[in-house]
Amino acid sequence: MQKVLFVCLGNICRSPTAQGIVEQRLREQGLDDRVAVDSAGTHGFHIGAAPDERATEAAARRGVDLSRQRARCLKPEDLEEFDLVVAMDRENYEHILRMAGDRHAHKVKLFLRDYAPQAGVDEVPDPYYGGRGGFDRVLDLIEQGADGLIASLRTGPGG
Ligand code: 4NP
Repeated sequence: MQKVLFVCLGNICRSPTAQGIVEQRLREQGLDDRVAVDSAGTHGFHIGAAPDERATEAAARRGVDLSRQRARCLKPEDLEEFDLVVAMDRENYEHILRMAGDRHAHKVKLFLRDYAPQAGVDEVPDPYYGGRGGFDRVLDLIEQGADGLIASLRTGPGG
C-alpha cells in the first residue's frame, strides 16, 4: 500500500479537498486498495474541526464528500509513515522539509510544481480569507494535481 499525505496550513480547506478528490478518483479507477490518502495541517488552529463549509459545499457541487474528515496537525512520525508528503504551497513545503530532515526529504513534494506543471502556478492559493470563488479555483487546481499524482503512482514506486 502506498501512503500519501496532503498538507496545508489549517487542514480545513485545501488538503481535505485534495484528500477527497484523490480518494474519489482512486475509487473510480479501482486503485483504492493500492493507495491510501490522508491530510494534515502544519498548524493546529482547527484540530478536530470539520472542513470549512465553503470547501465542503464547493466539493459537494462536484460530487465529492468532505464531511467526514476532521482536522489534525502534522507530526514527525508522519514523515516515517507516509511514502509521499505533498504540500499545497511553498510555505508549508518548507515547513515539512525542515521536519523531514535529510532522511525523508525525498518524500516531500510541492503539489502543483511536481504533478501539474501545466497549471502554470506552483501553489494552491490559500482560500480561507477570500470569497467563495477562491474555493472553485482551489478545486480546479487540485483536480489537475490529482490527475498528475495518480498517473505518477501508476508508473513507479514513490511517484
Ligand atoms: P487551509 O486554509 O490551510 O487550506 O486549511 C486555512 C485555514 C485556516 C487558516 C488559514 C488557512 N487560519 O488562519 O485559521
